[in-house]
Amino acid sequence: MKVEHTIAAVRAALKQARQKGQSIAFVPTMGNLHSGHIQLINEARRRADYVVASIFVNPTQFGAGEDFDNYPRTLDADSAQLADAKCDLLFAPSATEMYPDGRSQLTTVSVAGITETLCGASRHGHFTGVATVVTKLFNIIQPDMALFGEKDYQQLAVIRCMAKELCIPIEIIGIPTVRAEDGLALSSRNGYLSAEARTKAPMLYNTLCQVRDALLAGQDDVDMLIQAASTHLNKCGFEVDYLVAYSDKLQPLQAEDDVVVTLVAAKLDGTRLIDNLSFQRKAAK
Ligand code: PAJ
Repeated sequence: MKVEHTIAAVRAALKQARQKGQSIAFVPTMGNLHSGHIQLINEARRRADYVVASIFVNPTQFGAGEDFDNYPRTLDADSAQLADAKCDLLFAPSATEMYPDGRSQLTTVSVAGITETLCGASRHGHFTGVATVVTKLFNIIQPDMALFGEKDYQQLAVIRCMAKELCIPIEIIGIPTVRAEDGLALSSRNGYLSAEARTKAPMLYNTLCQVRDALLAGQDDVDMLIQAASTHLNKCGFEVDYLVAYSDKLQPLQAEDDVVVTLVAAKLDGTRLIDNLSFQRKAAK
């Protein structure tokens, strides 16, 4: 696997792949890789001739007081995992390579509407940081396809919207969430949890499953169900930011919506965890 740190070197490496007519798949990450990330690489490997990953802890998507400084940076271990997964090229730029003018870059990409709820409501500017860096990475790599995890459901929706509306000629592929055996969605932030918090954390996924089961069993007072589940999580030591049952367009659920997505964000032990679960229900028409 090639490892490059500059935009010029990545472009040169990709020129060769393109000249050979190879299709290119891209997996952007912030590193500290786990099996969820590697699942994206495996899927990319299955779908394309040439696989590119990036590792960049993007400062512009972290707010003041968030974990940018503490975010785990494990480049050597990450490179080894990517090489094992037969990734062809790793792009690991510095902050100055990506933002030569620092945070004063004048151009940003912001998606309205869907970024104003859920994580966007409590993490102001987060999705503009994500959309901007992903656009830059897309322009640097110019892949045929890019793979993202459904674990970050709202992020995937933002990227899909941005790619469609800005006519970005890249296929956006969503990959199901990879979980630990006890149901906890794998995340680089799980490493922040104390042993005790780690045993509690799977309650988030269990709660989403319980809400799903109740809805499928015909419980139609969605608000009451969500309120009770949220109160229970708070009593168990979580600090719930949101717990909702929405349509797959991230709008409040209407009777005619077939697909339901339940989404949760909560702090446990000071660590912000997110998860979601989508399922098909029979619409009450
Ligand atoms: P990061 O959190 O490192 O995640 C990189 C990719 O891995 C994202 O598409 C994310 O949804 C996916 N992922 C994370 N955990 C997963 C899991 N348990 N199962 C499946 N996929 C999972 O998301 C980001 O980085 C950044 O915002 C980024 C898109 C790189 C822009 O900076």
